Amino acid sequence: MEEELLRLQKAAHEDLAALSEIKELEPFRVKYLGRKSEFTSLMRQLGSVPKEDRPRLGKLANEIKVDLEEKFSARKSELEQSAAGPSDSLESDLTLPGRAIPFGKLHPVTQIMEEICSIFEGMGFGVAEGPDVETDFYNFEALNIPKHHPARDMHDTFYINESLLLRTHTSPMQARIMENQEPPLRMIAPGKVYRCDSDITHTPMFHQVEGFLVDKKVSFADLRGILGVFISKMFDENTAMRARPSFFPFTEPSAEIDIACVMCGGKGCRVCKHTGWLEILGAGMIDPEVFKQVGYDPEVYSGFAFGLGVERIAMLKYGINDIRLYYENDLRFLSQF
Ligand code: PHE
Repeated sequence: MEEELLRLQKAAHEDLAALSEIKELEPFRVKYLGRKSEFTSLMRQLGSVPKEDRPRLGKLANEIKVDLEEKFSARKSELEQSAAGPSDSLESDLTLPGRAIPFGKLHPVTQIMEEICSIFEGMGFGVAEGPDVETDFYNFEALNIPKHHPARDMHDTFYINESLLLRTHTSPMQARIMENQEPPLRMIAPGKVYRCDSDITHTPMFHQVEGFLVDKKVSFADLRGILGVFISKMFDENTAMRARPSFFPFTEPSAEIDIACVMCGGKGCRVCKHTGWLEILGAGMIDPEVFKQVGYDPEVYSGFAFGLGVERIAMLKYGINDIRLYYENDLRFLSQF
């Protein structure tokens, strides 16, 4: 009896291991665990074995039954699981091309900034960058804006303490560079600037590109010439420009440069407030006071400087009407550039 039980268990194990399809499960169950199975009939014979062997054999038979039931249901769920997996017809097609990884892009403001820089680099300008956290001295004093000068009001400055601030423009780079180098100089300085201001045309952080040229006999005509080349490369080749008198403490004379409205071509529209013109930058001849601060002789040298707003140029070039879109990180907006 004992031998028969063990032989049956062994045979069942072998059969179970050889099972490879769901449809083979039921015949296995009937053969080993069904009511008419050899195993069930062995169980029935337990009643007729000698009394003293009965408990031992009964225990063994029960253990084998539990063992077979457990192994059977484990095998069953194994087979069911692999059947739920990919069937033959869905197997990967190895000839298909791989999944494309989407490429990132440069931010539109970065793209425009790089374009501006490369136009000026093409005209022989060098590029320098300076600190966002600037001293009161470079941001104001060295640029002929002493303490309590009314021009400081225009800047809506974020102060860090008495003498440190977030630069309100890139012009401090004029003083920083001139202080350390002798003319002739042709430089641009791109970077972030900060002003406490926020509406559809202002963000508290924006970008400027400062540019300046110092040499002997530099005139306002040179400034116009350089800016004319820049505007024709940045916008349409025949874009008209004009200089309007303005004031900056660090340039004299000073001007604001306008271009013919990119939307209406100068006829007048909502974007240019029906004037036909759009302001794109501030500029002027470097003030002799600035030269004195950095130790240049204003009798020998002259120069011009300009500062342009990168977001503003990008808005005009792409026809964007709200500057805040640049900084909302909405991919539907950013991926258009
Ligand atoms: N720094 C000025 C501004 O931010 C622009 C400017 C630069 C004007 C250089 C003249 C010369 O408004």
